[in-house]
Amino acid sequence: MSYQVIARKYRPVRFADITAQEHITRTIQNSLRMGRLGHGYIFSGLRGVGKTTAARVFAKAVNCRKMIEDPEYLQQVTEPCGECESCRDFDSGTSLNISEFDAASNNSVDDIRTLRENVRYGPQKGKYRVYIIDEVHMLSIAAFNAFLKTLEEPPPHAIFIFATTELHKIPATIASRCQRFNFKRIPLQDIQKQLSSICQAEGIRVDDDALQLIGRKSQGSMRDAQSILDQVIAFSAENAHEGSITYRGVAELLNYIDDDQMFAVTDAVAERSPAKMLDVAQFVIQNGYDEQDFLEKLIEHLRNILVVQNLSSTRLVERSDAVRERYRQDAAKFTPSSIMQMVEFLLQTQKELKFQFEYQFRFELALLKLIELDSSRSGEPSSLQVPQPQKKKLLTNP
Ligand SMILES: Nc1ncnc2c1ncn2[C@@H]1O[C@H](COP(=O)(O)OP(=O)(O)O)[C@@H](O)[C@H]1O
Ligand SMILES: [Mg+2]
Ligand SMILES: [Zn+2]
Repeated sequence: MSYQVIARKYRPVRFADITAQEHITRTIQNSLRMGRLGHGYIFSGLRGVGKTTAARVFAKAVNCRKMIEDPEYLQQVTEPCGECESCRDFDSGTSLNISEFDAASNNSVDDIRTLRENVRYGPQKGKYRVYIIDEVHMLSIAAFNAFLKTLEEPPPHAIFIFATTELHKIPATIASRCQRFNFKRIPLQDIQKQLSSICQAEGIRVDDDALQLIGRKSQGSMRDAQSILDQVIAFSAENAHEGSITYRGVAELLNYIDDDQMFAVTDAVAERSPAKMLDVAQFVIQNGYDEQDFLEKLIEHLRNILVVQNLSSTRLVERSDAVRERYRQDAAKFTPSSIMQMVEFLLQTQKELKFQFEYQFRFELALLKLIELDSSRSGEPSSLQVPQPQKKKLLTNP
């Protein structure tokens, strides 16, 4: 009856189920087929994109009896069978052929010595022992050096997989002895698809745009997406809604600033309506949204408009069709140079806002300023460069 979080329950156990990292799984499968395995690998990439998952499948594959004993299976399927004793040990978490070592909390030279001792002994069962060293960039230089020797002359049964979110922090002496694999951010569509099949398996009904919102919020990390889904499901169960989980519900739960608010800003600019703009500012402030977040999203919004203007297509805008249509309309309302100016101004404001106290006041003024900046219709030069002593004074000395 114990509840298992989605991220663990749906961790892929075969190469084929690892989404969006085919460039890596294919290479690993090829080297398995050819029997050309290295002793050191670096798996780098954002959190929650499949590094640990791929390392575990890899460890399982190199020890799978069927893969070892059945050449045809090895050539044609190249997946851990999931049925032999070794695979079952892996699946139940009792295999001794895999060790996971968290370098973030065990990063001293002594820790590495212990690991090195451990590495000398071969596996009792199976062929390889795989050591996954997570967050390897956290090791001290001394610890790296202590490890170098092992990596130079590894025992034949040892495979090291170094996982890191910060590739640049790994010394060249280590990196040059390893095969390097860069895990990609997972595209929104793939995340959405995965969430959708999880919901189906769990018998939970969720609207597509709600899943897309979860995907966007997770910014390319499958684990983040799955954790948010857990939260959404728990929240919805509590509220015992019949029917499906909606975009509105998710947006509310995540305190998500909706696209509507973004379009309200560009509408206010297009209509040159300070009153409308102040409404948006009030909405943000009263609902307790973070002003910095809002500006961040607004910059992304303007970026989307620019993209549509430059490509004359909305294909790079990751939104539903209805929202894309609104982008198409907005793109026609402004000139690219005007949008660029707004973006530059907002980037600047974002920086300044960090050091300000009268936050909300500054925030309102920044939004109002956008109306002034827009020169799309008049063709007149923007007022960005024109000094405005009066307003400046107001800003620093309210
Ligand atoms: N590429 C992927 N395909 C499918 N699920 C994934 C993928 N990447 C991550 N996940 C999900 O996220 C969870 C965490 O992934 P993990 O491999 O531990 O990430 P990390 O890259 O941080 O090591 C997994 O249990 C799995 O459910
Ligand atoms: Mg990991
Ligand atoms: Zn097997």
